[in-house]
Amino acid sequence: MMRYQDPALPVAERVDDLLARMSLDEKIGQMTQAERLESDEADVTAYRLGSVLSGGGSVPEPNAPKTWADMYDGLQRAALRTPLGIPILYGVDAVHGHGNVVGATVFPHNIGLGATRDPGLVREIGAAVAREVTGTGITWNFAPCLGVVRNPRWGRTYESFGELSELPVVMTSYIAGLQGPRVGPPPSVMATAKHYIGDGGTDDGDDQGDTRLSEAELRVLHLPPFLAALRLGVGSIMISLSAWNGVKVHGHRYLITDVLKNELGFTGIVVSDWNGLDEIFGRDEFTGEEVRAAINAGIDMVMVPERWRQFIDVLREEVKAGRVPMSRIDDANRRILTKKFEQGLFEHPLTDRSYLELIGSDEHRALARRAVAASQVVLKNEAGLLPLAPGARRIFVAGRAADDIGMQCGGWTISWQGSPGAITDGTTILEGVRAAAGPDATVVHDAGGAGIDSSFDVAIAVVGEEPYAEDEGDLPGDMGLEACDLETIARLREAGVPVVVVLVSGRPLDIAAELPGWDAFVAAWLPGTEGDGVADVLFGAVPASGRLPVTWMRSTDQLPINDGDGQVPLFPYGYGLSLDSGES
Ligand code: GLC
Repeated sequence: MMRYQDPALPVAERVDDLLARMSLDEKIGQMTQAERLESDEADVTAYRLGSVLSGGGSVPEPNAPKTWADMYDGLQRAALRTPLGIPILYGVDAVHGHGNVVGATVFPHNIGLGATRDPGLVREIGAAVAREVTGTGITWNFAPCLGVVRNPRWGRTYESFGELSELPVVMTSYIAGLQGPRVGPPPSVMATAKHYIGDGGTDDGDDQGDTRLSEAELRVLHLPPFLAALRLGVGSIMISLSAWNGVKVHGHRYLITDVLKNELGFTGIVVSDWNGLDEIFGRDEFTGEEVRAAINAGIDMVMVPERWRQFIDVLREEVKAGRVPMSRIDDANRRILTKKFEQGLFEHPLTDRSYLELIGSDEHRALARRAVAASQVVLKNEAGLLPLAPGARRIFVAGRAADDIGMQCGGWTISWQGSPGAITDGTTILEGVRAAAGPDATVVHDAGGAGIDSSFDVAIAVVGEEPYAEDEGDLPGDMGLEACDLETIARLREAGVPVVVVLVSGRPLDIAAELPGWDAFVAAWLPGTEGDGVADVLFGAVPASGRLPVTWMRSTDQLPINDGDGQVPLFPYGYGLSLDSGES
């Protein structure tokens, strides 16, 4: 047994021994993260790859937990066939549950969790996600996003816990849930605080745009969540694709090395974002200039999904030319190897399949349902319409998001962008309404509202945004409801029955003009697979307690609008009705 293979030795000694045995190519391989679709088991062995990832929607066929575990174990066995037998880290975006995996529990996206104001609940969610990710073997989750969203035009608004750093700060409890007290063996899964730094503060909410703030403002607005994550021992930090005052963060030595590593003492892995090296100097693809800028800035693991062979060759040249010092390569390897030893990957490289049965378990779905209910924000309730009384009532349910798991899950679900439709297992909001209304009620559903008439006691319109992710969700223009949703609500109103609008969206939308015609209005955010949690609040099984994690604009002319900026919003940050008090 070589010293690095002795689990009785301190991790630092194991790292020293292993590092001393590694060639330059083995060290560069450890810093390379390839996409599973662009590599295979033979590549993992031949190139000594340190990491493989599933980007959003990069799933094995058939997409089932066991197939994921088989895929993971195959790649690990390939890694163990290298001369030094260094296991890989496999990374995935389990950002609201193990959302790529059919049958996994999908929790509310972060904006809904921010509305709960409940860090303990979010920690429980992190622990449940860790158990489901562990069931597929994977040990690295590119979550939580700790971005502080300052403009709802941003396509990643829903990945933020809120517009003030106080919410992402307390919701770093997710990291404690995911990792446990520290990065360790399963079911601990290494968390990633992302995206460092200022991803949510770009001009006009332009994803991957430019965050123009003084350093003092950047430190006040966007740094606190990362400080909290560091205090919790977060294992990795992902760099933002955005820029700070015109300089891409991926090439920013001051922010990454001077601040994050030296001033704040971060000893984990700094990982780039997807092709983050490509645009450092505004050109497509990367050259030696971008590679050395990123590595010398302090990036340790490079997410280079397709062109990873080119990356390996270019970095080798940069090191041989003396433009990237060996000390930097060794620092990156120390950080990567330390996490692999801490996770026990050398002792237990393969999936612990005892966790497979926990994926989508009743216990996890019950937790998700609790989170959905706690995330609902009641913003209007005329004449105490809500909560609806169970029992013999005629209820009409309309809206294209009423019976659609895909819409209620949003992006990062089964595919990168997500999609409408019955994409995974779960309970739709309509199914939740039917169950909550009880056997004596009559619940009629038509997405467009056809069939509504004055014989119904109430109509519920579940409307909102089709799924999207990242820059595909940026909204530079109109932020109103889709015409089909407006038509559905108008048809319900023409019948003369009270209308409850439930908005399934990743952010506030421009609804001030329509709001007077709604009798009640609930922001449901992107609840995930357990839509019955929405019905729990609509029917009063769970008191409404959600509070806005972002300011709700009166008009898009106000954007950006944030708490304390002196503008008068439609609904302020922190607003929400508690139905039990009969507020309206
Ligand atoms: C994406 C996202 C990042 C994600 C990564 C891997 O572009 O910016 O949040 O973790 O790529 O999917």
